Formats: sequence, C-alpha cells, structure tokens
Amino acid sequence: MKRTHHCNELRSEHAGQTVILSGWVHSRRDLGGVLFIDLRDREGRTQTVLDPSDLTKELFEQASKLHSESVISISGKVRVRPAGTENTKIPTGQVEVLVKELVVLNNADVLPFPVDDPELASKVNEELRLKYRYLDLRRPEMTRNLRVRSKVAIATRSYMDEQGFLEVETPTLFKSTPEGAREFLVPNRRDPGTFYALPQSPQQFKQILMVAGVEKYFQLARCYRDEDLRADRQPEFTQVDIEMSFIEREDIYALIEGLLKRVWKTALNVDVPTPFKRISFEEALNRFGIDKPDTRFGMELVDFTEEFRASTFKVFSGTIANGGVVKAMNAKGLADATQGQIETMTEYAKGFGAKGLAYIKVEKGEWKSPIVKFFNEAEKAALIEKLRIEEGDLILFAADQWLNACEILGKIRLYCADLLKSQGKLTIDANRFDFLWVIEFPLLGFDREQNRWYSSHHPFTAPVNEDIPILKTEPKKVRGQHYDIVVNGVELGGGSIRIHQPDVQKTIFEEILQIPPDMVKARFGYMLDAFRYGAPPHGGIALGFDRLIAILCGTQSIRDVIAFPKTAKGTDLMTDSPAPVEPKQLRDLHIELKVAKKE
Ligand code: AMO
Ligand code: AMP
Repeated sequence: MKRTHHCNELRSEHAGQTVILSGWVHSRRDLGGVLFIDLRDREGRTQTVLDPSDLTKELFEQASKLHSESVISISGKVRVRPAGTENTKIPTGQVEVLVKELVVLNNADVLPFPVDDPELASKVNEELRLKYRYLDLRRPEMTRNLRVRSKVAIATRSYMDEQGFLEVETPTLFKSTPEGAREFLVPNRRDPGTFYALPQSPQQFKQILMVAGVEKYFQLARCYRDEDLRADRQPEFTQVDIEMSFIEREDIYALIEGLLKRVWKTALNVDVPTPFKRISFEEALNRFGIDKPDTRFGMELVDFTEEFRASTFKVFSGTIANGGVVKAMNAKGLADATQGQIETMTEYAKGFGAKGLAYIKVEKGEWKSPIVKFFNEAEKAALIEKLRIEEGDLILFAADQWLNACEILGKIRLYCADLLKSQGKLTIDANRFDFLWVIEFPLLGFDREQNRWYSSHHPFTAPVNEDIPILKTEPKKVRGQHYDIVVNGVELGGGSIRIHQPDVQKTIFEEILQIPPDMVKARFGYMLDAFRYGAPPHGGIALGFDRLIAILCGTQSIRDVIAFPKTAKGTDLMTDSPAPVEPKQLRDLHIELKVAKKE
C-alpha cells in the first residue's frame, strides 16, 4: 500500500475519493463498537473510522488491540463528517476516512510516556524525553522546531550565496590552542602522546582562508567546547560562521542585518526593521548592568556617585572615597516585596559579590528603609527626580567598584523583571524582538589572580586604530574592534575586525598576553607565517545557530532545537555516551587509565 496523501491533506473536496494513508496511531477511541483512529504523520492528523461491518473480523480485532504509536497503513473512502462532529482545531477536521483495508506495519509496545499530550514537556521529566528522544521528536512542537531549523539553514545558505560567499568546510580534527574554553582532545594512534583537539570554532581556519584569497567565506560549522553547560550552552553546537576581506565593521553590520531580516521573514513572516540600534559596552553596563541588555523593559540603572560623595551613610561615601560608585534602580511596583523576598534578593546579589543590597520601599507615602535616616533633603530630592520615584516603588542600591556595581544591579534588574512577570505586573509581547549591536568593548581584561591581561574576545581581534599607539602603555584603555549582536538579552553572536599585521599579532601574543615566544611559535607560528605572505585586512562574525533557532521557536533551552542534545552533564542518554572502551582500544592508543574501572 503506497500512500496517496499525507495526514494533513484531506479536505471536504476530497469526499468520495479512495485514499491510502500511512502513519502512527495517535489515539484510538472505541465508540459503541465503531473504532476511531487518529492517524498522524509528520504533516498532521486525520481521523479514520473502522466499522466492523466493513472489515474482516480478524482485521477489526487487530485494530481494536493496537497500541498508541503503532505504525499502520489504511485505505478507505473520504467522507464529510456528520454535522456536529467536525473538529475545528485541525485542518482535516471536516472529513474522516472510512477504512476498508488496514495493514499493521509495526505494533508499538506500551509507551514510556504519552506522545499525544501538548503539555507533555512541562509534565514529563526531561531525562526521560532524552532517553526516548525518537518519541519526543514525534511531538508536533518538536517536529516544528526541526522544520524551523531546516528552513533557516536553507535561507541562510541562499542569502550568503546571493551575497557572494563560498561555503567552505574546515577540519574538526584540529590542534589544541588552549585559549578560551576547555577543549575536547582526540588521541593520535599514529604518534603516541600527540593529540588532535576538536575546534572551539573555525576561527583560525577562516582567517587562513582570507590569506588564501577566498575573500568571502561562510559555514554552518560544528564547534566543541568542554565548558559548564546551561540551557543556552551545549558541548557541541553550531555556528553560522562568517569571514570577509577588505571590509570595515559597518560591512558586517549591514550583512548580518540583512541575514536576520531574511531569517525572521522566512521563519516567522516578521519584518524586522533595520538598521539595528548600537550601544557601547560602557553605556550597556551603565544603563543595564550587562553587555547583552534586554531592552524590552525599563528599570535602567542610574548613577548617584556625585550625590552621595559626602553622604553620612559611610557604606556609600566610603566606597566612593575608594574609587567606587553608587548605582541605583527603581523596581517599579515591587514595594510590596516581603522582607523574606528582599533577603532572598540580597543573598542572590551576594552570590555575585555584592556586599549588601540597600533598599527603599515606597509605601503609603512613606519611605521604608534601614538607610533612609542617613539621607538629607537634597539627596532625597535627587533620588526622586532621577529615579522618578512614585508610590509602590522599590529602590535598590549597589555601592562598589564601577564594573561590580553595574553587574550586580544588572543581575538584580533581570531578577526583578522575572518577579514582576510572575506577578503579572510586567508583560512582554512574545513577538517583540529588540536587536542591538554592542560595540566598543575593551580589548583586554585583567586577571587579578594570575596578574596578567587576557583578551576579552579572542587574541585575533584588532584594536581600534587610534588606540594602537597606547597598546603597551595603557592597555586598559584600548578598545577592540569587536561587536556582539544581541536580541532580547541573548548574545546571539560576536565577531571582530582581525589583526592582519604579523608584528601587531606578535606584540599581542608575547608582550600583552605574556605567552612565551616558543609557545607562540608552536601554537600560532603558522598563522604568523601566513600573515607574512600577503594577508588582506579582514573581519568576521559567528552567530550561535542553536540560540538563533531557540529564539525563533520561542523556547528558553537550545536542547529543544537540537535533535540529539546532551544533558547538563554532557551525556547522551539515548545512546548512553560517553562510555568506557575496550582495553585493546586503549592499548592501541598507548593510553593507560589511572581511574578506577566503573562497573
Ligand atoms: P564566540 O565564542 O562569541 O565567538 O561564539 C559565537 C557564538 O556562538 C554561540 N555559542 C554557543 N552556543 C551554544 N553552546 C555553546 N557552548 C556556545 N558557545 C558559543 C553564541 C556566541 O555568541 N570565533 C568567534 C567568532 C568570530 O570572532 O568571528 C567565536 O567563536 O551565540
Ligand atoms: P549595614 O550598614 O551593613 O547594616 O548596611 C545597611 C544596608 O546597606 C543593608 O541593607 C545592606 O544590605 C546595605 N549595604 C551594605 N553594603 C552595601 C553596598 N556595598 N552596596 C549596597 N548596599 C549595601
């Protein structure tokens, strides 16, 4: 029996036709001796009716015993459903198929969890869903996610092709270059004691492709990072990886704005307005306390350093005297927070290094706060004006060094937004997408523990041209030609204009990052060499493809848009990987284990 239609195809105009459908038994109901089987395939569902008078006794009995998710083919006649029995919720709800023949292709066992429940994701534990991923993926929501992913991949490829880019595959057996995240290593049997590493991104290959004259490269590239996993991080993930020659930052902005416009139109039929807003790293921290601001709601941070420089509240004036700042935010409508909620919030802030979380509750025209007694009239007036304080507000303060104060309140801002959302006091339109370029990042950060500079993006990012002269004298002030693309508070991607002069790159490696010259030679020598043979100025970006799809599908977790994701512990529960290997395999690799063998 070869199918004539899929399960989302039949309408009232098909009435009278004989059709063949194949698929899974979505549900089965027995109504007074007549069986109703909802047949489902990738496209949708169709109701079929099995009347004992139309089928042999044997077939009818077989059908009566079918478990959910068994695979069958049926042949029968389409008819319009009797008045009053239509189902307006599904596109095929006007018709049903009166079954004349039935073939059971595969009888399913009793399922570990039901597949026909749209609320399932919130009810069944995710580990069970991952163990039986093939069942989980049958759910229409998951099929939809895979479909969006496929459509967006294809739209991305055609857009990049139209823009003149070549898709080039780069190796996934690469070399260890321990910058950034921890790597996955692959032992080399041919030369015992040597290892490949799986690439964290194709960064170095794509730059070499520019030296090779490719000019415009892209790839849907698989990347590997052995880092702590969260809802938005997987050990292997996909990037839309891009690199171009003879360009400036503006070229990348325009390219990516065009790409995202195309993607949003393809996936959601939404017209995204361009160009996107831009904000400097410093302004993002000052106003939102984070370098990936969610600008869909207010509660911005406000600086009160000048106002509290001479405050009698020593926590504030003392911090300022030590070079710190005082920042505050107005959590609109949270004055009814209980003492317990404020304590929880304070503990949360302390988890990010806060020394405390001073607050003012504005209730019944009164300021309730352990610190208000320290404020004079001028200080109070400044607070009212700059924070637009009204009845029902909760004001929160952080006094600390600039970056800490910003970041602490940035976390509290998001925390308060979640609290307000859960209380129904803040609603954000699900179809709102706030795109933002974050620019002018500092090129370097300082690691106090190790007493050395590190690249805030990666070591190939070029400094802003005017800052090159102060690279060695005032590294802290040097801005990088780095940009991040952010949407609704999610870092979707990042990139930069690169260094293409071997001497500048060598200075960054050896003098700024303090990597010993022999190590630079061993790790990056081939790149420095390549740059001596005609390297064009170049730059690029990588978008997190899984994060992109998660945003389009409206899910918080990238696991929902990856066919076979790993758990937070990095395991694949379906195949039970990673797993031990045979002693012979280890001997071939000249590897001896020091861990106790697990049973
Ligand atoms: P970066 O490290 O910022 O840049 O990565 C680019 C984007 O990749 C996504 N991403 C991840 N997605 C899922 N799981 C992960 N573990 C994970 N890690 C990163 C994020 C991130 O914004 N080579 C540079 C790009 C460049 O300079 O061109 C790079 O990899 O969305
Ligand atoms: P204390 O004087 O330590 O009792 O603190 C009084 C209030 O100020 C408490 O609500 C503390 O949580 C808060 N507080 C203490 N240190 C800081 C700080 N560095 N920034 C913001 N609030 C603080």
